[in-house]
Amino acid sequence: MVTDNDVQDIAALRTMMVRELRDQGAIQSEPVAAAFAAVPRHLFTPGESLQVAYGVDNAPIVKRGDDGLTLSSVSAPHLQATMLEAAEVKPGMRVCEVGSGGYNAALLAELVGGSGHVTSVDIDPDIVERASTFLNEAGYHRVDVVLADAEEGVPEAAPFDRIIVTAGSWDIPPAWIDQLTDDGRIVVPLRLKGTTRWIAFDRDSRGSLVSRGYGLCVFVPFQGAGSHTERNVTIDDGVVLRLDDEDLKIDVAAARRALHLPKIERWSGAVFDMPDEQMLFLLTNDPNMALLHADQQVIDQGLLSRPALRGVPVLIGSDSFAYRAARPNDDMSSGYESGVYAHGPSAEELAGRYVELLRRWASKYHRRGAASIEYLPKPAEPAAHSSAVIAKRHGTVVVTWP
Ligand SMILES: C[S@@+](CC[C@H](N)C(=O)[O-])C[C@H]1O[C@@H](n2cnc3c(N)ncnc32)[C@H](O)[C@@H]1O
Repeated sequence: MVTDNDVQDIAALRTMMVRELRDQGAIQSEPVAAAFAAVPRHLFTPGESLQVAYGVDNAPIVKRGDDGLTLSSVSAPHLQATMLEAAEVKPGMRVCEVGSGGYNAALLAELVGGSGHVTSVDIDPDIVERASTFLNEAGYHRVDVVLADAEEGVPEAAPFDRIIVTAGSWDIPPAWIDQLTDDGRIVVPLRLKGTTRWIAFDRDSRGSLVSRGYGLCVFVPFQGAGSHTERNVTIDDGVVLRLDDEDLKIDVAAARRALHLPKIERWSGAVFDMPDEQMLFLLTNDPNMALLHADQQVIDQGLLSRPALRGVPVLIGSDSFAYRAARPNDDMSSGYESGVYAHGPSAEELAGRYVELLRRWASKYHRRGAASIEYLPKPAEPAAHSSAVIAKRHGTVVVTWP
């Protein structure tokens, strides 16, 4: 039962959440602030304390698979706010939310108002039932919650001015582009080279998508027909290379031999900062980049260094590999300098290539949002230029560093 004290707590917590989201820069506009101030988030997170419900970084888990991995969660307010700002949802728009939970759909309903419409689609009947119930209890009766695999979109409710995807997608299904209005926008957490970024894409006159902004994020995986299993190559106990790229050849025996050779370290004299932005640059500026992950035990043994613990861009050669390092340096604006650890017979050559990339990023692209990302649905082909071209099932992602 909700007491008078709870009601006061809820109002105070909601005000505090909006203030924190503004302070972080996640909320930037009055309509988004008003939506967060209006929707009672705790009604969509039953079983959680009010503090958890209104914590800006909290994403309460709703469902896990048999393997323990999260299949559904109520996304964290800071990410929802960031993606809603990127979507620029206006009154009267028709919006499709891919992946339901109820709360984000209610925020969207506030943003589109009485003249707009929100459709939310989820592949999981439990989630659809839960989201519908909570939306009705909170008074958002006009949101349609649909049970379907969103790989096909929701043709009966299209066209949409905005499609907001809330599951990590490896590709952009043709239906999403087909069901978008001519000047529509998709905000989608897209997997690129083993990491996920939300990208706000505008549709252009050729039917391609052009980015307006992006940022690092983590989402539960997209299931159903569009699901994608990433390629993990085990080099040794607790050492894994994560690859999105089927073409990249790995000689596992050679990589293991290199791992057990002493490492060299080379320093760039360039700043280490904004690891997420630097990571996108590294992953998209050499076709032989992947992500290197190591267990704590491997770090403790001294085989690899700490950056590998959370996944670090690694340049792979035929018999050697090199990965990013950082060390304190008071001459740098961030207080840290970037560098490289490299193992194997060609360590020197790989380290040199890597250091050049680190210097190029620091001198030309040391800021947020420096890349331009395009999605070209098949049969469109990328123009012949030096940008990173990432092949997907239904099209191509082109990442350019202007
Ligand atoms: C992070 S949750 C959604 C959170 C929600 N938007 C909110 O309000 O916080 C992601 C959801 O995507 C759904 N999903 C995954 N693959 C899907 C697919 N192919 N079609 C539709 N829904 C999918 C999952 O069932 C899960 O409920």
